[in-house]
Order: sequence, then structure tokens, then C-alpha cells
Amino acid sequence: MTNPSLLILPGDGIGPEVMAEVRKIIGWMGDKRGVTFDVSEDLVGGAAYDKHGVPLADETMAKAQKVDAVLLGAVGGPKYDDLDFSVKPERGLLRLRKEMDLYSNLRPAQCFDALADFSSLKKDIVSGLDIMIVRELTSGVYFGEPRGIFEEGNERVGINTQRYTESEIERGARSAFELAMKRSKRLCSMEKANVMESGILWREVVTHVGKDYPEVELSHMYADNGAMQLVRAPKQFDVIYTDNLFGDILSDCAAMLTGSLGMLPSASLGAPMANGRPKALYEPVHGSAPDIAGEGKANPCACILSFAMALRYSFDMGEEADRLEAAVEKVLADGIRTGDLLNDAGVTPASTSEMGNAVIAA
Ligand code: NAI
Ligand code: MG
Repeated sequence: MTNPSLLILPGDGIGPEVMAEVRKIIGWMGDKRGVTFDVSEDLVGGAAYDKHGVPLADETMAKAQKVDAVLLGAVGGPKYDDLDFSVKPERGLLRLRKEMDLYSNLRPAQCFDALADFSSLKKDIVSGLDIMIVRELTSGVYFGEPRGIFEEGNERVGINTQRYTESEIERGARSAFELAMKRSKRLCSMEKANVMESGILWREVVTHVGKDYPEVELSHMYADNGAMQLVRAPKQFDVIYTDNLFGDILSDCAAMLTGSLGMLPSASLGAPMANGRPKALYEPVHGSAPDIAGEGKANPCACILSFAMALRYSFDMGEEADRLEAAVEKVLADGIRTGDLLNDAGVTPASTSEMGNAVIAA
């Protein structure tokens, strides 16, 4: 049997710093647990621009299409702010998402007990929270035509179009139902069928797909009510499936219920490959954090937890993923924290590598 393959793209700023901790964990897994991967590494973002003049080289794109999973750090930074839009670091990430056709964006919002005090909500409302938002990523109002700023009479009009085909709604819905099957078997679909035709179609298609998953308890909610419920009583949810625009906002909102940007992983999944598993890109939600880059202050947990998602969704290693997540939880419970997880100025924060070492020790 061949080893599962992983392409690592550390990127810019704190990207390489947090990725170094994941590499240590991969090394540890090989040594101590006999789990090995074919790991290759390449450039993305500003780092790729510096070498190739483009934020993602064609060869790197071709590699990404072939591997079982891609793990990306972060891209961007002030050094690249004045570059032409077409070669900005972010375009490297967008190219990956587009050419791999990653239509299903998984954003977990999980509250580690040790961090419950960090939430803007009361501890008992977020403690034990574990929800997954599945956001449709390749269609909807960010892509629909017509779009643009047009002259109309003696003023201008800005136009974007919310557009969803049945098949776009359906493929995302299937990935959300599959996830619900692996979790608590509850799925809440969010749209605004009360005021948008695309929402009416959304609700019809999701209901139809639900017939193939009789074990999953399906509910529907208007997205504005969903926003209210997320801050009022988030634990009522397990998996939420929603469109690109609502998902952008709702997933950021849900994620922040749980504490710091430095803790948030994500996965973007596409169509199943020959091995039955989806094309996949895993990345922390945070950016390249130029304000702390190069200082060893970055929290590596978001990147480590993104790798845990890769173990679960791309490599069928659910137990290894559980083990890694439990290690992160233990480190936090032991009070080992990077600066972003500390309120008390009197406590000396752990460095990026101290945090990674603690996860390995745990
Ligand atoms: P950012 O996420 O890089 O930073 C926001 C704030 O959170 C900063 O104060 C930063 O120090 C802190 N922070 C972020 N990650 C952290 C971590 N792991 N540990 C500790 N603190 C952390 O967002 P910002 O400042 O808006 O963007 C900076 C650059 O990153 C820009 O060039 C932007 O375009 C790019 N960016 C890239 C993303 C990606 O690669 N997916 C996503 C968001 C922004
Ligand atoms: Mg957003």
C-alpha cells in the first residue's frame, strides 16, 4: 500500500512558523505511531511570487491536483500590498480553491473548555459547544452574473446576482449530510426562502437530498433567525448547511463564540477522487499576521487542528485526529498558552515551538 500523500504550502508571514509545528507532529507520528505520509513542500503566495513572479506556479497547481490533501499556512503581507491584483498572494489561494473546485467549506466552531472564558458569551452557553458550518464555496452571489457597476439614467447602480443551480445546491448538501451521518445526525439548512427565490429552490433541493439520508434529522431556518440562534443558544446545532454569502458571515460569527483566531481550523472539500475521498485543502482561518511574524509568537493550534481535520476527512484516520485534538485540549487545560490566549499580562506566554512541543508531549 502506498502512503497517503500530503502537499504542504507554508506560504507567508506566520505560515511557515505554524507549519513547522505540524511537521514536527508528522515526524512524531512516523516515529512513535508508525503512521507515515509522503510529504512534499512547495511555495504559495508571496513566497511563490518572489521566486516565480506568480503566486502559484503551474507545477505546484498540478501537484495539488494529484495529492490526497493540501495543507496551507497563510498568504499575504505588507510587502505585497502594491502588487497588481492579478499576482497578489491571495490569488494563489483562490486559484487552488477554484481549480480544485472545492465547493464545500467546513468551518468547525468548537469550544475547548479551558478557553470558555475567552468567549464573548456566558460560559454555560458555549461550554461543550461543537458545531460544524458547511458553507457552499463556489457559487452564489460572489460569482453570479450579471455583476458590476453600471450607469442607469443619471446615477450608477451596483449589481450582484445570487444564482444557484440545483446541482450546486445538491452537491454541497450531500457533503453536509455525509458529515451529519458521522456526527450527531442533525442538519439545519439556512436560507431566506421567505424573500429569495434561490432560497425556495435551496429548501426544495435540500429536502429532496434528505430523502437519501432518513437517519438525519433535517430542519430549516431563515438565516437571520439562524444568526440570532447562534448567539442565543448555539448548542442546539450540530451541522449547518448554508450558501456562500450567509455562510461567510455565519461561520465567522460562530467561530468567534469559541475564542481566538489562533484556534480556528478549516477544510475545503471538492468532488470525490478515485480513492473515494474528496479533493481537499486544509488551512487555518487566520492570515499571515504580519504584526507578529518572525517573533515566534504565533499560536500553531489552528494549523495543527487543520491537520487533524485532514487526518479525519482525507486519510480516514479518525482515531489519530481524536488523539491530536485531545492533545491540544490537554495543553490548554494545563495552562500552556501563546499570547493570543492570555488575558493576564503577568503571565509569560509560550512560544510557537513551545506550544507545538507541548502538544507532542501530550
Ligand atoms: P490575520 O489573521 O493575519 O491577523 C489578524 C490578527 O490576529 C493579528 O493581530 C494577528 O497577530 C492575530 N493572529 C492571527 N493569527 C494568529 C495566530 N495564529 N496566533 C496569534 N495571533 C494571531 O489578518 P489580517 O491582519 O487582516 O491580514 C494580514 C495578512 O494576511 C493580509 O495580507 C491578508 O490579506 C492576509 N490574509 C490571508 C488569509 C489566508 O491566507 N487565508 C486570511 C486572512 C488574511
Ligand atoms: Mg469572511
